[in-house]
Amino acid sequence: MRLISNARLIGRDGPHDIEIDGDRLGRIAPAGELSGDVLADAGDHLVSPPFVEPHVHLDTTLTAGEPRWNASGSLWEGIAVWSERKAFLTREDVIDRASEVLRWYAANGVLHVRSHVDVTDPGLVALDAMLEVRERVADVIGLQLVAFPQEGICSFDDGAELLEEAARRGVDAIGAIPHFEDTREDGVRSLEIAFDMAQRYGLRLDAHCDEIDDEQSRFVEVLATLARRGGLRDRATASHTTAMGSYNGAYSYKLQRILARSGINLVCNPLANLCLQGRFDAHPKRRGLTQVKEMLGAGVNVAFGHDDVMDPWFPLGTASPLQVALAGIAAAQLTGAAEIDEAFAMVTERAARVLGLGDGYGIAPGRPANLVVLPAASPFDAVRRQTRPTHVIAKGRLVAETPVTPTRLTWPGREPEDVDFVRARDR
Ligand code: FE2
Repeated sequence: MRLISNARLIGRDGPHDIEIDGDRLGRIAPAGELSGDVLADAGDHLVSPPFVEPHVHLDTTLTAGEPRWNASGSLWEGIAVWSERKAFLTREDVIDRASEVLRWYAANGVLHVRSHVDVTDPGLVALDAMLEVRERVADVIGLQLVAFPQEGICSFDDGAELLEEAARRGVDAIGAIPHFEDTREDGVRSLEIAFDMAQRYGLRLDAHCDEIDDEQSRFVEVLATLARRGGLRDRATASHTTAMGSYNGAYSYKLQRILARSGINLVCNPLANLCLQGRFDAHPKRRGLTQVKEMLGAGVNVAFGHDDVMDPWFPLGTASPLQVALAGIAAAQLTGAAEIDEAFAMVTERAARVLGLGDGYGIAPGRPANLVVLPAASPFDAVRRQTRPTHVIAKGRLVAETPVTPTRLTWPGREPEDVDFVRARDR
């Protein structure tokens, strides 16, 4: 038996040891009570379930600047730039870029990823490449693929047929983009098509929904109602929902009840949407984000995702979930101490709920031996100091190690000393 020793666990007092039994977690007991070879000494640092990425586009990742930069920064120019880049896609190109970012994810302690894949391509080049990537990375990262109709289901030639072909080839979830369809009726019909397909193939549903600053874009009510009436409930997710940032108070209140009753999940992508939205506004410029605080308060599950890592929609990123959490905290004004812990949950446990990981996630006996050691005292501390995991354990194997290297500061009147950004009273 091997051990993760001296782990500080969320919800338990004092350091604990965790048994690793093959690819599963064994017993958890106060430090010193279990015996075995130490796989990693956590040194009384935080040990957390792995980070979870609930929303990224791995087929577009690392293409920023190709064939040109998105000069306006708008979602629409991003789609136009991607349409140009898509003409040059090859299987190897997609595999190489997606694999590189998945390595970054693993180094950051992200062991579950949901990626959307554009299927508005008659060749389905990216889809076949990503299905191959899913197999290749399975020993380290659990990758879910969503068939994403970037240019529409009803408004793109053969959009519905391509979506169904993606279902046949083995995606995990069906997508949609109702606000992008040519008419409101097409938007509603596209969701009906997507839900019907998800149910016929036994798949989850994750739609890009209302990713526009138009307060008239109200497809999330349609998605939630289809999810409730058809029984898909928490197997359905509305991603982006940025129009919610422009809804009036009366409608927002009504919507809280509709979403809470439905059981659907929301995914907010703060880095990308803070930048993409509000581009048509003079001042005051809208934030252009879903109602994170209000929907959490109404009992709706909300998670934070990247959406983009160096692509036509957002040019920066290192696949770090703590960067996303920090951006989300600032953007959604989640600055209460409990809210900062909640933001950490939004890139761990809440994101795991979006993916439907159930008993396949979390630190408890019998669950998969996936965890991260963060050189931090708490989730709050990890978010604030943006700490990369010192150890990442995937299926019982140590897959990433990052040494902690403090900054050496020479200051007038003091001997050279290490600076680790921990205030004195918290030591
Ligand atoms: Fe997206």
